[in-house]
Amino acid sequence: MKALQFSEYGGPEVLRWAEAEEPHAGPGQIRIKVAAASINPIDWKLSTGMFAGGKPMEGVGRLGFDAAGVVDEIGDGVTGVQVGDDVFGRGNATQAEFAVLDAWALKPSSVDWALAAAAGVSIETAERGLRLVGVEPGQTLFVDGGAGGVGATVVQVAIARGIRVIASAGEGNQDYLREIRAIPVVYGDGVADRARAAAGGDVDAVFDVAGKTPIAELIGLVPEPAKVVTIANYGAAESGVILTRGGADSHPFEALAQGARLLESSQLVIKFQTFPFDRAAEAYAISLGGHVRGKLVLVP
Ligand SMILES: NC(=O)c1ccc[n+]([C@@H]2O[C@H](COP(=O)([O-])OP(=O)(O)OC[C@H]3O[C@@H](n4cnc5c(N)ncnc54)[C@H](OP(=O)(O)O)[C@@H]3O)[C@@H](O)[C@H]2O)c1
Repeated sequence: MKALQFSEYGGPEVLRWAEAEEPHAGPGQIRIKVAAASINPIDWKLSTGMFAGGKPMEGVGRLGFDAAGVVDEIGDGVTGVQVGDDVFGRGNATQAEFAVLDAWALKPSSVDWALAAAAGVSIETAERGLRLVGVEPGQTLFVDGGAGGVGATVVQVAIARGIRVIASAGEGNQDYLREIRAIPVVYGDGVADRARAAAGGDVDAVFDVAGKTPIAELIGLVPEPAKVVTIANYGAAESGVILTRGGADSHPFEALAQGARLLESSQLVIKFQTFPFDRAAEAYAISLGGHVRGKLVLVP
């Protein structure tokens, strides 16, 4: 089979769509024939060596953390899913012709493959952050960075739960935020003041998706630091905000099942742009630019 891979750190030019060993489903896993796999910033954080601490690369790196496709192998202990089922979910090395998933949900038949693939990482992250920060129906949430993959999902999951949402994006994405029913503000200097003005006062909670606004400004919007959750400001935990990276905080099966319901009822709609796997470098270049609207999705 073919898979996206790299053997040295660098920009999109190091990526190759080339032969690789087929994965197999271990205990608690399933394997799918991939119909679509999305790009998340973690992919290029890995392929550019951001996490390598300056050490040279050893071996071959593989990419992709979510996908949608048809089940073709079932690992020991797995129940509730059969060979031939259409699923989407989270795994490793998913940007390939075959991939193993660790968590999944059945894909509603009305939902496009690319849309389902786009929802894997983003729905799990949105569900986790909203649960950890504890925002209730009727309350107001500020989403800093509402137009990307995770941000647009957070906005729509929160609105589906009856939460009022103010969200930030660049000038070019203000209409997109309105389309997904957030109250838009422009990010950058003074964003917290604009969010406060849009909310008519302080907000109940902040979901920091972009990790770019100084954390003190976001803390100033809420009653206490623990009402800010961040997924991208890795230095912020010292200020008492919730920093989450997944791990034990993650309830992926529940999140994906919830995502399937929201996708089927069109309460979650993610704009996406697709690229064939062998043109992945073009999609990675866009993702690296930092201004993706919705998601970039790779397809065979
Ligand atoms: N900790 C975790 O568990 C976890 C999980 C998933 C993702 N993440 C991280 O979360 C971040 C977002 O992920 P993603 O998939 O949503 O990325 P993405 O789709 O690439 O997000 C790009 C979005 O960021 C917006 N943006 C750029 N600069 C901004 C700023 N200064 N203020 C607010 N928004 C800004 C852009 O808006 P414009 O186009 O309007 O400029 C664009 O819509 C990444 O760093 C990712 O690695 C963490």
